[in-house]
Amino acid sequence: MILLHIMSERASSKIISSRESVSSQDVILTGDRPTGPLHLGHYVGSLKARVELQEICTQYVLIADMQALTDNADKPHKVRDNVLEVMLDYLAVGISPEKSAIYLQSGIPETAELTMYFLNLVNVGRLSRNPTVKNEIQQRGFGNEVPAGFWTYPVNQAADIAQFKATLVPVGQDQVPILELSNDIVRTFNRMYNRSVLRACRALTPTSGLLPGIDGNLKMSKSLGNAIYLSDPSDIVAKKVKSMFTDPNHIRVEDPGQVEGNTVFSYLEVFDPDTAEVARLKDQYRRGGLADGVVKGRLTDVLEAFLTPIRKRRTEYAADLGEVKRMLATSTERARNTAQRTLKEVRDALGIVEL
Ligand code: TRP
Repeated sequence: MILLHIMSERASSKIISSRESVSSQDVILTGDRPTGPLHLGHYVGSLKARVELQEICTQYVLIADMQALTDNADKPHKVRDNVLEVMLDYLAVGISPEKSAIYLQSGIPETAELTMYFLNLVNVGRLSRNPTVKNEIQQRGFGNEVPAGFWTYPVNQAADIAQFKATLVPVGQDQVPILELSNDIVRTFNRMYNRSVLRACRALTPTSGLLPGIDGNLKMSKSLGNAIYLSDPSDIVAKKVKSMFTDPNHIRVEDPGQVEGNTVFSYLEVFDPDTAEVARLKDQYRRGGLADGVVKGRLTDVLEAFLTPIRKRRTEYAADLGEVKRMLATSTERARNTAQRTLKEVRDALGIVEL
């Protein structure tokens, strides 16, 4: 996967790192809201990188159930039901609890405590200007009824990051303002309490491009209903590929077709290991004489080859959910020990009375 080095114009947001700058000293924190099973877009955008990064440095992977509740308070079962699903997806793609500390957010109540202290270090105006949250509020149609928990989730996310003194946080471009806020809070804490207890982080952003949805939409997402899930069975994957967006002007086989913006080719570029064959197919498609059905047939085979081992591991782990839960519990407990050490330093800096 290619990660480019982007430096933003604004000095305050020079927090974006390239993969080459990851060292064994780095501490990574990343995670997902458990609101549904993970899909190919997650794989391309983050899971693949996590499997590689866990070999290089310390990595925490959080299942953010409390953050998920900030906009699902009326659907707690949805969050609950997806915790082990997400854990299974992690295990299936090769994120290992031996190499990464996979943890459940609610299993570390210290994060909630740190969130409470952090809420005092940011003002309401700053929170309301956060472009990430502003967009999300609009998308969710909250209008004037934004849950306070949702509105302040970036502060909770700052606590996730700060409690492990994470140095690198892999996120999509859209989450960069949240990390800027997180760094501001951390710097304010250190300055106000005259300590160097907490650490600022850098964002690690993928620039290999988003994987489009099967409908051709720029982004694959659960809410748009255009996703292929890591847990989809073969027949569903084949059906989804058949329905995929191609070139609407490519009507007859002999018509010249367009490869750019053609979802089937976008996927082949990402998943087909035979790049020479993909280049040849593109040429033929552009000239005319290559049916959509043939390209889709190839993509179905390519995705099958990619998903078969993932599905196999998922099924093996799913056969013993009790064990999967124990793995998560053990890993969470280990991560909690680290968070507790940081919280001790934080309480000390704040002069909290220890009873
Ligand atoms: N906000 C992330 C998401 O929507 C999940 C998340 C919670 C996270 N805390 C984090 C990501 C800390 C990176 C760092 O999926």
